[in-house]
Amino acid sequence: MDINKIRNDFPVLRDNPNLAYLDNSAMALKPDMVINAVNDYYSRLGVNVHRGVYRLSYEATDLYEEARTTVASFINARFEEVVFTRGASASLNLVASSYGMNFVNEGDEVITTELEHHSSHMPWFNVCNVKKAKLKYVPLDKEGRITVEAFKSVLTNKTKVVAITYVSNVMGYITPIKEIIKLAHEVGAVVIVDGAQAVPHMKVDVKELDCDFLAFSGHKMCGPTGIGVLYGKLDLLEKMPPIEFGGDMADTVRKDSQTYKASPYKFETGTPIIASAIGLSAACKYIDSIGFDNIIKYEKKLRDEAIKGLKEIEGIKIYNENAETGIISFNIDGVHPHDAASVFDNNDVCIRAGHHCAQLITTWLNTIGTVRASFYFYNKEEDVKKFVEAVKNAKDFFYGF
Ligand code: ALA
Repeated sequence: MDINKIRNDFPVLRDNPNLAYLDNSAMALKPDMVINAVNDYYSRLGVNVHRGVYRLSYEATDLYEEARTTVASFINARFEEVVFTRGASASLNLVASSYGMNFVNEGDEVITTELEHHSSHMPWFNVCNVKKAKLKYVPLDKEGRITVEAFKSVLTNKTKVVAITYVSNVMGYITPIKEIIKLAHEVGAVVIVDGAQAVPHMKVDVKELDCDFLAFSGHKMCGPTGIGVLYGKLDLLEKMPPIEFGGDMADTVRKDSQTYKASPYKFETGTPIIASAIGLSAACKYIDSIGFDNIIKYEKKLRDEAIKGLKEIEGIKIYNENAETGIISFNIDGVHPHDAASVFDNNDVCIRAGHHCAQLITTWLNTIGTVRASFYFYNKEEDVKKFVEAVKNAKDFFYGF
């Protein structure tokens, strides 16, 4: 990969050549190709889709539906299986509110894990509360990983749903998801995969995984904010009722009856997220042009260098030394993660600190939070150096040297 050429595609990196942007798990930067695609829609068209009986609206509709085709092919799904949502959180909530509230019953079991983001775990906590189902957690191993053996220990014939992350946003571990899906299907359970931290970094093929649902966001994969995807197997989407009602999703509306369009439209109420869907499609094409093989290898290389640097500094606790992805969670002994983060900012290094909307795992780690650095394909080796230097500076600052 020609990193300098890639970096030149990103206005924020062009304008801030000394910035080490390492908060990619929260939000990825946007390349010109995405910004231009959004800009093109607003400047040339800027009209609604599916409704207007005029040329501009037909063209906007074509762009919006082409975006769905591009996103579907990106994850190897069918067109009808891709629902555009506000983001991964909205996608995960949609499944819980529709599938969970209608197909989970008293006495059923739902399996989740302590590695989940709140958006993956909380909707099912709520479903289990309302429906009097039992929520079970896969016991994590000593590194904090989900293993197939541990999953088997909580799986029973009563398991109806498995809500599980593909890559943890705090630990960066890759879940052995394919084996887990196969086991879950043997007892007739459906598996909802939170792919928010996986889809931007590695090839995710829904047919190969055989997952029932997959949720991810545009903004973590160089796309715009406010757009996400819910992939669902068509037979499941077809039997799920909509959770929002109104414009565009209705088929016939009478005083005594109402019917809905087929998937995906029955889940996309009101004016769709047109510009951001078009931007997400451009992001998929941009990432494809770089190639996932290059991305994951490169991120791992940067991460390994950063870990090596961190290990040379005394008093640093690394929580996920052996993770397979570009996420590092750590703390400086005796320093609150937010205090540490402020020193990073003074060093032009952007990182995230806190519980990362994943309080179950920070509790499991027995900490109030962590400092998290997360790499993407446009980071460079100088970013790693700046990061390690910032950790030293933060430590010196708080230890009073
Ligand atoms: N879920 C995002 C993160 O992990 C916001 O930072």
